[in-house]
Amino acid sequence: MYSWRRRLPRMSTRSFVAFVFFFSLSSSCLYFIYVAPGIANTYLFMVQAQGMMLRDNVRTIRHMIRLYTNKNSTVNGTDYPDGSNSSEYVAQPTAFLPENFTYAVNLPCPEKLPSMKGWNHVNMTEIFMEDIMLQFSKHTDIEEAGHWKPKDCKARWKVAILIPFRNRHEHLPILLHHLIPMLQRQRLQFAFYVVEQTGTHPFNRAMLFNVGFKEAMKDLDWDCFVFHDVDHIPENDRNYYGCGQMPRHFAAKLDKYMYILPYNEFFGGVSGLTAEQFQKINGFPNAFWGWGGEDDDLWNRVHYAGFNVTRPEGEIGKYKSIPHHHRGEVQFLGRYKLLRYSKERQYLDGLNNLHYTPEITLTRLYKNISVNLSPELAPVTDY
Ligand SMILES: *[C@@H]1O[C@H](CO)[C@@H](O)[C@H](O)[C@H]1NC(C)=O
Ligand SMILES: *[C@@H]1O[C@H](CO)[C@@H](O)[C@H](O)[C@H]1NC(C)=O
Ligand SMILES: *[C@@H]1O[C@H](CO)[C@@H](O)[C@H](O)[C@H]1NC(C)=O
Ligand SMILES: *[C@@H]1O[C@H](CO)[C@@H](O)[C@H](O)[C@H]1NC(C)=O
Ligand SMILES: *[C@@H]1O[C@H](CO)[C@@H](O)[C@H](O)[C@H]1NC(C)=O
Ligand SMILES: *[C@@H]1O[C@H](CO)[C@@H](O)[C@H](O)[C@H]1NC(C)=O
Ligand SMILES: *[C@@H]1O[C@H](CO)[C@@H](O)[C@H](O)[C@H]1NC(C)=O
Repeated sequence: MYSWRRRLPRMSTRSFVAFVFFFSLSSSCLYFIYVAPGIANTYLFMVQAQGMMLRDNVRTIRHMIRLYTNKNSTVNGTDYPDGSNSSEYVAQPTAFLPENFTYAVNLPCPEKLPSMKGWNHVNMTEIFMEDIMLQFSKHTDIEEAGHWKPKDCKARWKVAILIPFRNRHEHLPILLHHLIPMLQRQRLQFAFYVVEQTGTHPFNRAMLFNVGFKEAMKDLDWDCFVFHDVDHIPENDRNYYGCGQMPRHFAAKLDKYMYILPYNEFFGGVSGLTAEQFQKINGFPNAFWGWGGEDDDLWNRVHYAGFNVTRPEGEIGKYKSIPHHHRGEVQFLGRYKLLRYSKERQYLDGLNNLHYTPEITLTRLYKNISVNLSPELAPVTDY
C-alpha cells in the first residue's frame, strides 16, 4: 500500500481526485436538469417556503404585540388571525348569519350560512365507494349522479363539480365523503362528473375538464363549474363553492406547500368559473400532456380575457392533500415553451377545437365520463 502510493506522482493522484469530483458534480447536475426537474423545483420551493414562513412568523409576532399593547383592539384573542393582512380578518367573524336564521323557500339561499361552522373534519381513512354510496342513499333526496339541491331556499348557484381521474380509485370515495356534506351545508345545488382518461397517452387534466364541461352542459344549465383535483380535501366549510364576478381559486393554501401560496400566479388544485367565464376564455388548453403547466395557462387565459382571480382569505382556503407521488404520470417538459405563447393559442386551442367520443355511465354519486384522449382530437392551426 505504502509503496504503491510513493511510486505514483503526486499530481496525478490529485487530478484523479479532481476528475472524480467534477465528474460526479456534473453528472448530478445533469441528473437534476434532465431526469428530475421536479425534485429540483420542489427543493427550491421548500427553501423559498422556509424563508416565507420565517417572515410570516415575524409579522405574526409583531401583530400580537400590537394586539396586546392596544387594549382598544376589536379583535378577540381567540379569533386571532394567522395571516399577513390583519384588516381582512376584522370584518370576517361577524359576517355569518345567526343560528336562528329562518330560510324562505322562494328566496335565494345566503352565502354565509349558520350551518357553515368553519371547519371540515378531514379523515383520510380509505373507505369503499359502496359504503359511502350506502351511507348517502339513506338521504333519499340525493338523486342519481350525486345531484342534490336544498329544499328550504333556492340554491344560489347550480354547481357542476368536475373531477379529472385516472388510477385513483381509493381517492374518489374520500373526496365525495367530505364534499357532499359540505356542499349541503352551503345549500348549493350540485352534481359530480368524474372524467376518466383511458388509453395510453400521458394524463391530460385540462382536456378532461373541457370534456367534462361540454358533457355537463348537456344535462342542465349549470351556472358554476368547480374544477376539482381528486386528492384535495377542503379543511374549512366556509370555503364557499359558489362562483362570482371573477374566477376563483379555492385551493389557496395546501398542506403539501406548508399552507403557503407557492407563487402569486398559482391556480392549481381547485378553481371555479361561471359557465359564461369559462366559455369566454375558451376553456382550458388541450395541448398539455403530462402533469404541470395547464393551470398556469388557465391563469394567463383568465387575465387576457380581462378577469382577476379571487381567493378565500385566511384559514378558509386550507386544503389537505391525499399523499401520492404523481404515480405513473410523467411531467410535461414542453410546458414552458407553450406558456410563452399562451395569448396566441388562447382562441385556437380550447373548447372550440375539441372533438371526443365519451362513454358514459351513471352511478349513485357521480356521472362517469370515460374518454380516450389523443392529440389528434384537438388539432391546432399554426400560430
Ligand atoms: C377606543 O376606541 C374608541 C372608539 O373607536 C375611541 O373613542 C377611544 O378614544 C379609543 N381609546 C383608546 C385608548 O384608544
Ligand atoms: C371574545 O371571546 C369571548 C369568548 O369566546 C366572547 O364571550 C366575547 O364576546 C368575545 N368578544 C368579542 C369582542 O368578540
Ligand atoms: C391590507 O388591506 C388593505 C385594505 O384592505 C390594503 O389596502 C392593503 O394593500 C393590504 N395589504 C397587504 C400587504 O395585502
Ligand atoms: C336570533 O338570535 C340573535 C342573537 O344570536 C338575537 O339577537 C335575535 O333577536 C334572534 N332572532 C330571533 C328572530 O329570534
Ligand atoms: C375515519 O373514517 C373511518 C372510516 O369511515 C372510521 O372508521 C374512523 O373512525 C374515522 N376516524 C375519525 C377520527 O373520525
Ligand atoms: C384587476 O386587478 C388590477 C390590479 O389590482 C386592477 O388594476 C384591475 O382594474 C382589475 N381588473 C378588474 C376587471 O377588476
Ligand atoms: C368509469 O367507467 C369505466 C367503463 O366505462 C370503468 O372502467 C371505470 O372504472 C369507471 N370509473 C369510475 C371512477 O367509476
